[in-house]
Amino acid sequence: MTDSPVLELRDVQKSFGSVVALRSGTISVDGGSIHALVGENGAGKSTLVKIVAGLYQRDAGVFRLRGEAVDFSSTAQSKAAGVAVIYQEPTLFPDLSVTENIFMGRQPTSRFGRIDRKAMRHEVERLFTRLGVLIDPDRPAEGLSIADQQVIEIAKAVSLDASLLIMDEPTAALSGIEVERLFTIARSLRDEGRALIFISHRFDEVFALCDTVTVMRDGAYIATSAIADTTVDAIVRQMVGREITELFPKQPAEIGEPLLEVEHLTSPGVFQDISFTVRAGEIVGLAGLVGAGRSEVARAVFGVDPYSAGTVKLKGRIVPSGRPTAAMRAGLALVPEDRRKQGLVVESGVGQNITLAIRRRLTKFGLLTQRAENRAAREWASRLEVKTHALDTVAATLSGGNQQKVVLAKWLATEPTVLIIDEPTRGIDVGTKSEVHRLLSELAGRGMGILMISSELPEVLGMADRVLVMREGRLTADIARAEATSENVMHAATHAPEHAR
Ligand SMILES: Nc1ncnc2c1ncn2[C@@H]1O[C@H](COP(=O)(O)OP(=O)(O)OP(=O)(O)O)[C@@H](O)[C@H]1O
Ligand SMILES: [Mg+2]
Repeated sequence: MTDSPVLELRDVQKSFGSVVALRSGTISVDGGSIHALVGENGAGKSTLVKIVAGLYQRDAGVFRLRGEAVDFSSTAQSKAAGVAVIYQEPTLFPDLSVTENIFMGRQPTSRFGRIDRKAMRHEVERLFTRLGVLIDPDRPAEGLSIADQQVIEIAKAVSLDASLLIMDEPTAALSGIEVERLFTIARSLRDEGRALIFISHRFDEVFALCDTVTVMRDGAYIATSAIADTTVDAIVRQMVGREITELFPKQPAEIGEPLLEVEHLTSPGVFQDISFTVRAGEIVGLAGLVGAGRSEVARAVFGVDPYSAGTVKLKGRIVPSGRPTAAMRAGLALVPEDRRKQGLVVESGVGQNITLAIRRRLTKFGLLTQRAENRAAREWASRLEVKTHALDTVAATLSGGNQQKVVLAKWLATEPTVLIIDEPTRGIDVGTKSEVHRLLSELAGRGMGILMISSELPEVLGMADRVLVMREGRLTADIARAEATSENVMHAATHAPEHAR
């Protein structure tokens, strides 16, 4: 038994060509503790994690596990040394069962060299009981919610008996209850003496879960503090190196004519009888719990998913059902929830991604001029502070948050009449968050109508002129900005509406 930290990194460096991703990665994580790692998009958090995971090799610096210097040239080696990582994007094999995924690459074999399914099943049941998980071990991973996929990754980590568990933004796509379940599991692993690293852009979670916090900025270590001795403001200052004043700077805008009119929209079993209007200059917030049907309504309005009854009108004209291209031409834009999956061409350059939806507009006499494309791409990349070396950098190599900004830029560049934006700041750091809010406010000020789906109550309350609330596929409230409070919004999100008032 030693007193060495489970993980110790000092001045670890990593470059990709001319891009320095990590300048001085420094962190020391003790057993029996949960250590938060925070920093802006592109600060180097995921790069640091990938070095510990054996996915990347460091160029320089100290890397010790339980006091011993290590050098991993593969993920198999880091796994064998007791490191388990839950990545920003889940990595399960969709065709394999839950059990097979947990035992991927290390199936127990019987005496005759056959895979011992019974032993695997038994072990998974034991694990799930211990972690309080209610997932069918025999079902395929395909179709599992992101929350369940993460729980399975954790079960896998526990079954490997990992002494260091790293979670890279595990909660970005989880609802409140799912976050609680994850935290309960994390705390019990800590209490068993394991070391955990938790990466998140949500400070409330960092403060609720972690014991210690390390802040990074521009690839470098800035500071480590005990959670008990620091504050959100102090951490934010260390992260961005400047004061962030207003988080939700929605300016009052003149509310004009109705732009988007949705009437009695219905998709059986998904949402019922949804009617609302978004006016020029207005930001309408759509609040509710994860699973209430908000993203489904957005997708139907934009024509990605069909609906069986109801109408969608933009500036008084019917937007045809089930035809996103027509919706786009009519002046609608939808920035989807899962931006990395639904909006990004990872193998294309940053600039190309940004101009993807405005190619037609930039084309003159059948020619897309490179200059016009570059100018548009540069403008939007800088307005959203996309951290990239060059506009032809492949989108796949951007940090998670910066990939999201690229998709945001792509849709904002279309300058739509009505912008539907699903979770606008999920996975985006504080500095950019206030930038995105300022931008939305500015767009509304210029007469755009904005429908903003958000699970973050402060964001909804701070940004929306009007708050719609959905619960189990129905609209349960329509509250003006002045009347909206976290209590009445939460109440509408969790209670059946009272009758005929
Ligand atoms: N394989 C790669 N090739 C080139 N550049 C890379 C590669 N991986 C990371 N980078 C760059 O290194 C920097 C740090 O990225 P990293 O993913 O570590 O950030 P992060 O702190 O995890 O950000 P986020 O909060 O957005 O997830 C970024 O500028 C990114 O573009
Ligand atoms: Mg990251």
